[in-house]
Amino acid sequence: MQLMVVKNYHELSLEAAKFILKKIRRLPTITLGLATGGTPKGTYENLVLDYERNQTSYRDITTFNLDEYVGLEPTHQNSYRCYMDNHLFNLVNINKNNVFIPNGNVSDLEKECKRYDQLIKDKGGGDLQLLGIGKNGHIGFNEPGTSFESTTHVTELTLSTREANARYFESIEQVPTHAITVGLGTIMQSKEILLLVSGESKKVALARLLSGKVDEHFPASILANHPNVTIIADEAAVSKGG
Ligand code: PGA
Repeated sequence: MQLMVVKNYHELSLEAAKFILKKIRRLPTITLGLATGGTPKGTYENLVLDYERNQTSYRDITTFNLDEYVGLEPTHQNSYRCYMDNHLFNLVNINKNNVFIPNGNVSDLEKECKRYDQLIKDKGGGDLQLLGIGKNGHIGFNEPGTSFESTTHVTELTLSTREANARYFESIEQVPTHAITVGLGTIMQSKEILLLVSGESKKVALARLLSGKVDEHFPASILANHPNVTIIADEAAVSKGG
């Protein structure tokens, strides 16, 4: 794992966008795995700014999002479909037929998980996966204890995750209890991984990840087994001396 430490969130967002843009320019048909949450917002903002200035084309790109809440309509303002439309997809020239997000609002969730996992496999696992990390070490919504072999599946969100995401809802009771997430085994199939870590609240998680100890109780630790991982972290997320 390669670690790049930058001054603050602003720099992290610029560097992450530069990293992704370089890949897109090199491979205009790239398959990207995308993440939601607070951390990648600035990255998407910079991608959109670049699109306005330089018209980098998304026409031939395919994207797979990592996760989606169970039980929210795709049009719900807190669905990850809506997040992606508002932060990226509606603002660049991406072909929406090539945009994939699990649908957490179907009656047969198992079937949806299988379908979604197969779509990613059909794309060879993808070229570049963008990730954030939870305080408890989750990546996607793979909570502690998730099998390293897991494929796309339905997961019960931990209290810590629901508390962290309650800021987007009126109350914690409204945060869905379950989500569909791409599994750890599927994430590991991506040829390359870019993990963004920002802020003091992620310090403990980042230190644990960098210790290199691989343990299913800390899902992100599986990344130590991937041959091509870049971590961009800001100074607030990096422990002194580490
Ligand atoms: P955050 O979420 O970017 O909103 O901190 C990251 C995550 O939970 O994976």
